[in-house]
Amino acid sequence: MADPASPVLLFDSGVGGLTVYDALREVLPQAPVIYAADLAGLPYGTKTEAQIAARVSGLLGRMAERFRPRLVCIACNTASTIALGMVRDVLEIPVVGTVPAIKPAAALTRTGTIGLVGTDATIRQAYVDDLEAKFAGGKRLLRVAAPGLVQAAEAKLRGEPVDPALIADVRDRLASLAEGARIDTLVLACTHFPLLADELAAAFGPDVAQVDGAQGIARRIAHLLEGQSFATGGAPNRFVVTGPIAGAKGLEAALRSRGFGDAEAF
Ligand code: DGL
Repeated sequence: MADPASPVLLFDSGVGGLTVYDALREVLPQAPVIYAADLAGLPYGTKTEAQIAARVSGLLGRMAERFRPRLVCIACNTASTIALGMVRDVLEIPVVGTVPAIKPAAALTRTGTIGLVGTDATIRQAYVDDLEAKFAGGKRLLRVAAPGLVQAAEAKLRGEPVDPALIADVRDRLASLAEGARIDTLVLACTHFPLLADELAAAFGPDVAQVDGAQGIARRIAHLLEGQSFATGGAPNRFVVTGPIAGAKGLEAALRSRGFGDAEAF
């Protein structure tokens, strides 16, 4: 049985995994959480598979040694679709990944045409091809990369405005693909993107549903930890960043409202 003070470790390149954290707090508010943002490695989406795999498995190995978590969640589609297997080989605790929510999107679409927005690295993964073949057979999955939205989500959480042209560009690129006008369901295949749900809804309109994996992942974590006891000792959850602590500047309000203490350096 895990030590009651042992945390759940949520990991992402930046603040995107907070969308998973928010969902987790709904179902498991009593669990102590350490959220680790690899700001020194952000963004992952423009890196190579080899760079991401080495970085994520190395960092999570060191973080697991230091924080002794009971479970690790890779709250990042890019890292999960590339490095989930490798991280599971390295760690001896449960590792939950975040993969594009193609299955629920396929169940939801009425036109049979789904848009998938992710990072450059995610949309080219065989992992995504496999999910498409398994769950979206007979449907059309149109993929676009939107690295600008990662930056926009990071900025938004720091209180900066989001440029509507960035969102319109993603909408227009999807619409310009064959059958793109038929998209009625959008897979947000990057944990940063639900932070822009309002902006995406404004650009895509009320007839396009957004689907992401956060709730499903939170339920999976809660299921894996069923029956375990938790003790925070009244301490706030911890938010840890790689690189200079100044990288977390501007996030104070977002962290405080979510029950985190001040950002700490890893
Ligand atoms: N949040 C990450 C994801 O879910 C990606 C952001 C990045 O490019 O680092 O894919």
